[in-house]
Amino acid sequence: MKIWGFNSGLKGETQVPGDKSISHRAVMLGALAEGETTITGFLAGEDCLATIACFRDMGVTITRQGSTVQVQGAGLRGLQQPKQPLYVGNSGTTIRLLLGILAGQAFPSVINGDASIQKRPMARVAKPLRLMGARIDSAGDLAPLTVSPAENLTGIDYLLPVASAQVKSSLLLAGLYAKGVTSVTEPAPSRDHTEIMLEAFGVPIKRQGLTASVEGPVVLRGRTIAVPGDISSAAFLLVAALIIPHSEVIIRKVGINRTRSGIIEVLQAMGGNIEVLQHENQLTEPVADIIVRSSKLRGVTVAGDMIPRLIDEIPVIAIAAAFAEGETVIRDAAELKVKESNRIAAMVQGLTAMGADAGELNDGLVIRGSNSLHGAQINSRGDHRIAMAFAVAGLAADGETTIDEEECIPVSFPGFADVLRQLGANVQMDRE
Ligand code: S3P
Repeated sequence: MKIWGFNSGLKGETQVPGDKSISHRAVMLGALAEGETTITGFLAGEDCLATIACFRDMGVTITRQGSTVQVQGAGLRGLQQPKQPLYVGNSGTTIRLLLGILAGQAFPSVINGDASIQKRPMARVAKPLRLMGARIDSAGDLAPLTVSPAENLTGIDYLLPVASAQVKSSLLLAGLYAKGVTSVTEPAPSRDHTEIMLEAFGVPIKRQGLTASVEGPVVLRGRTIAVPGDISSAAFLLVAALIIPHSEVIIRKVGINRTRSGIIEVLQAMGGNIEVLQHENQLTEPVADIIVRSSKLRGVTVAGDMIPRLIDEIPVIAIAAAFAEGETVIRDAAELKVKESNRIAAMVQGLTAMGADAGELNDGLVIRGSNSLHGAQINSRGDHRIAMAFAVAGLAADGETTIDEEECIPVSFPGFADVLRQLGANVQMDRE
């Protein structure tokens, strides 16, 4: 992918594709429900399509037309033994959440993913699931994972060592199959889409402070789910409009769940001119239109409980920081090392290549802003969020930027280049 820096501004109105986390969960709960579930605004990105494929492999009828998906629920006990290993591609959410569901099945299964997935830690889910009675085998707790039928799962009371919605959700989903209460307590609030959606499907969830509990077995009822735009995708447009002079962009119908909206607060604290216009909310998740205008940014510190509220947006926050005045410090974010790539190393490497002053910390990074980056060749490491973060940097840098392995972008944001072009940017994909 090639990007040319420009400064005549991004302008116009746009929408981003559906929320990835919510799209995954809608398919999963729809499959386990009684009756039909209709999903609108579904993200037809590769990660969520992998979730659909896994449930089809377990006998669930799922049809899709664009961003509308119909799931014929199989019921909690209605999944069938897959004929082949389930394949999640690049999707950490699919493998970890599905593991919780597979743990409760009366049939054996194997689950695997691509080279990146095979390096990501699975002990964080396998260990507590085993405490519930699950039988999960693998070499070094890495994918591929083999799940054997367990006699009966039993609820546990589990304190998560790190705030992770994937681990929390996996345990709550296993809890649907368990005898007794499954309680998960987090060190800080992570995204709560599973809790919200379980409730929407009729499952009583008890939430108290940092603890969420579910008591199995339960019945889920199919329903309609309207998926809002993904704030993690909107984040790229927010930062692009802030750092490219003379920009004004409206992004419609973005999900602004509080556990996800840290990016807006941090960009505003950096001096970003961002207005959030609340929508009437008929959805289970809050939605807003967001207006963003070019702004003079200043450095900030991002740490503590804020981190889980913007974990996926840190790469693009680092780009905003490179165009800000002063120093930005990001701490308590060691989790970035075990995402689709080591995002701390990837950001520091790419920013340095573009002439920014950036350094790694054990649990984050430091960026001293300069407002003058130059184009460079960027190794995205096949990580969609790294590729898009540097595409944004390239739009505000001098000269030409090339992003390697652009084909990872549709994992979460199909049509990314088209949206940028619609707003006035000069972007060329390799295959065009
Ligand atoms: C996700 C949770 C987060 C996030 C990921 C999606 C989810 O991962 O980074 O992109 O949908 O539950 P962790 O649970 O590992 O923090």
